[in-house]
Amino acid sequence: MSDPAATLERSTDLRRRFENAGQGHVFRFLAELAPARQAALLEQLASVDLDEVRRLHAQLASKEASVNLDAIEPAPYVPAHFADAAKYRAIGEDLLRDGKVSAFVVAGGQGTRLGWRGPKGTYPSTVITGKPLFRVFAEQLLAANRKYGVTIPWYVMTSPLNDTDTRAFFRDNNWFGLEERNVFLFPQGTMPSITHDGKLLLEEKDTLAVNPDGHGGALRALKSSGALEDMAARGITQLSYFQVDNPLVRVVDPLFLGLHAAHPDSSGEMSSKMVPKRDAGEKVGVFCRERTASGSRTRVLEYSDLPPAISQATDPDGRLRYRAGSIAIHILTLAFIDRLTRDPDRFGLPFHRAIKKVPHIDPTTGQKVEPSQPNAVKFEAFIFDALAECRSSLVVETTRVEEFAPIKNATGDDSPATSHQLQSDRAGNWLSACGVSIPRRADGTTNAKIEISPLTALDIDDLRRAQLPRSVDVGAEVLL
Ligand code: UTP
Repeated sequence: MSDPAATLERSTDLRRRFENAGQGHVFRFLAELAPARQAALLEQLASVDLDEVRRLHAQLASKEASVNLDAIEPAPYVPAHFADAAKYRAIGEDLLRDGKVSAFVVAGGQGTRLGWRGPKGTYPSTVITGKPLFRVFAEQLLAANRKYGVTIPWYVMTSPLNDTDTRAFFRDNNWFGLEERNVFLFPQGTMPSITHDGKLLLEEKDTLAVNPDGHGGALRALKSSGALEDMAARGITQLSYFQVDNPLVRVVDPLFLGLHAAHPDSSGEMSSKMVPKRDAGEKVGVFCRERTASGSRTRVLEYSDLPPAISQATDPDGRLRYRAGSIAIHILTLAFIDRLTRDPDRFGLPFHRAIKKVPHIDPTTGQKVEPSQPNAVKFEAFIFDALAECRSSLVVETTRVEEFAPIKNATGDDSPATSHQLQSDRAGNWLSACGVSIPRRADGTTNAKIEISPLTALDIDDLRRAQLPRSVDVGAEVLL
């Protein structure tokens, strides 16, 4: 039971602070609320850092810091095919066998573009069986545990907005065959969404409108949730970071781990994978090297940061000069995260702003507003901004068909349809490498639906040991 006198006192104090900051409107409906809802709203308001909101809004007015284009050049990268791959793969396999590696998926996003009701990880993603994304990752972990004779713990970042549903999904699916104690779910933080003139928004009369604080909120959340401590206690040194929307991701990749840990150009702090951009207009960030007073650092610049003259420039061989597109796959060393987050009060990756549609209560009428146009500013931090904190960071090339088939939109680019085709293409390529005859269209894509379970094969070598057909018919459905 909330104590009405205490609630009143708290309310008076808070109200004064909010009014002084020009945010008194969020109290407008307090008197109408039942006592428990009053207490909930006051608690939420007490957690808002009004100075930060003011500072971020001021930054918004003055636009984001611009990039000094004279100081950047394309980031060098390890090409997809290079000598010594076997050596680095063996180093990565040792890290796995020694129990040094954890898997980390960021699944706190709102997935608004896809329009799926429920956490995105519950989305049916595979070509034939429609396995939810979370199951695809869990089965990779089951297979890797078996292959390397270890238990790879899995850290899953949710948000306060989808944590309950995500936990229920894991529970209802019996943790996908993993042991519950080796799966660590934790919510990230949130940021208030504001109007263009800096006002906080009420999602309901008793709730402030907030959004998850971006995948860059992961570092702080890993620290505050106790996940870092849990990893340290397990002897983990490496975190394999990936996003929830990519069913082709290698949840743990021995070659990438080995390169991160032992390549001479890696400081062993944070490494990244890239794929060559499809074309200059593709809306992905690109890896750049930026000269600084003390040397240089790797950065991901957003497509909107690069003027066409730069994003369209080509090398003498005709390839885009800035072609290294970020696919949000990283390895971070625990010691690096620990260094960055040791003092959580002073640590924070910079916030970027996104203009989005946020339903809210009109503070004058009390009516719900469902905006048809973007009406609000959300603040999000991006994980790749941590690259700037590395002494030296490695970028490794891979191919789209092998590792990147994200499901972001309901239709068009990066949709279930494009992802399914890439999944069948990769499966077709793997089967071809094992001597199976695969039907192909003129453009080389696989003309059949093929799904290979992670429990059957994590890579081509595993597939060679499986029972395989001699050939696949045009339009066939093949499940392995
Ligand atoms: P996206 O940038 O695709 O955002 O996230 P989103 O929120 O999922 O989708 P839209 O933009 O609303 O359609 C890329 C990855 O980062 C995670 C997402 O869950 C996804 O794995 N993410 C994003 C978080 O974990 N937290 C966030 O605050 C934002």
